[in-house]
Amino acid sequence: VKGVVSIRPRTMRSRSIVTAGGKSSSALSPVVTVERLQMAPDTYHQPVLEREVVDLFAPRPAGVLVDATLGGGGHAAALLDSAPARRVLGVDRDPAARAAAGERLAPYGKRVRIVAGTLAELGAVVEGQSDFLAGEPVAGVLMDLGVSSRQLDDPTRGFSFRADAPLDMRMDPTTGPSARDLIVDIDEATFARLLRDNGEARYARALARAVKEAAPATTGELVAVVERVVPPAHRRRGHVATRVFQALRVAVNAEVEQLSLGLEAALDLVDVEGIVVVISYHSGEDRAVKAMLAEAASGGCTCPPELGCVCGAIKRVVVGRASAILATPGEVMGNPRARSARLRWARKVAP
Ligand SMILES: C[S@@+](CC[C@H](N)C(=O)[O-])C[C@H]1O[C@@H](n2cnc3c(N)ncnc32)[C@H](O)[C@@H]1O
Repeated sequence: VKGVVSIRPRTMRSRSIVTAGGKSSSALSPVVTVERLQMAPDTYHQPVLEREVVDLFAPRPAGVLVDATLGGGGHAAALLDSAPARRVLGVDRDPAARAAAGERLAPYGKRVRIVAGTLAELGAVVEGQSDFLAGEPVAGVLMDLGVSSRQLDDPTRGFSFRADAPLDMRMDPTTGPSARDLIVDIDEATFARLLRDNGEARYARALARAVKEAAPATTGELVAVVERVVPPAHRRRGHVATRVFQALRVAVNAEVEQLSLGLEAALDLVDVEGIVVVISYHSGEDRAVKAMLAEAASGGCTCPPELGCVCGAIKRVVVGRASAILATPGEVMGNPRARSARLRWARKVAP
């Protein structure tokens, strides 16, 4: 698999003070303590629901964990710290994220391997790492969806309306069409549907027309079009362009298809008694995760409960909890990104 980052063992340092660049963050910024988490505001990405993730993976059988959305390696570091014998295979489609995680996870040496790949390719990517798996089963898969704070805050990537940048939005900037290409190529009706699916119901058609006409090349130009179309009196809370940016990002990175293929692959990969944990950040994504886990839990059975299952459906998992796990108010205070996080998980069962 292309893009394997080799990790050189280094002297172990405290996780909370190692930045993506390998520098001590305490020398750069104050470390804030919120509940049991130590958080440095300038680290690559502050992991969301970190304690909950660590607690969920704690009682699982031995085996390799797959962090399918490695980002800056925050969750991976916490998982490695919490079990000295544990090994993590980290996957991300973003070369910059893999490089940052490579720095951050270097102290863990051979316990970590970082590879390039998308969620849609997860099965093949993991199977391609058989030398790292070394015959051990996959004991768990973590999928922390969406973009990292670093991707969002990087003014050159075009994910955010807060900085003027080329309208790119690709998580992997080496491949595929950018947001601008998508705007130019998509037909107006499909674009309107895409905006509507992401919550811009009222102005979807007008926005689709105006954005296509303007063909903005930068985030600033896109914001200007949105501001022109949506009257101030009808704007939602937050920035007027939030939903338009989100809709474009979801489309550019094929996030709906990626989630569905990735979760299916994760359910296949994980060994019996292992778990699949998914953290999502918007309601459509959470609904999709809930539905897919429910389908895997029922095996597609629709027999009336009073009759019991007579259709021979094979249940693949038991869902961990009916409702999603949310961040505590304390975590949200220290990390606003945690506000929208919804964690769902399921345990694989023997067929
Ligand atoms: C929310 S961040 C993960 C942060 C990470 N858990 C941490 O603690 O640093 C999501 C990461 O997943 C990656 N990602 C999102 N969708 C992906 C996909 N379909 N395939 C591969 N990587 C993906 C993004 O590039 C980003 O680095």
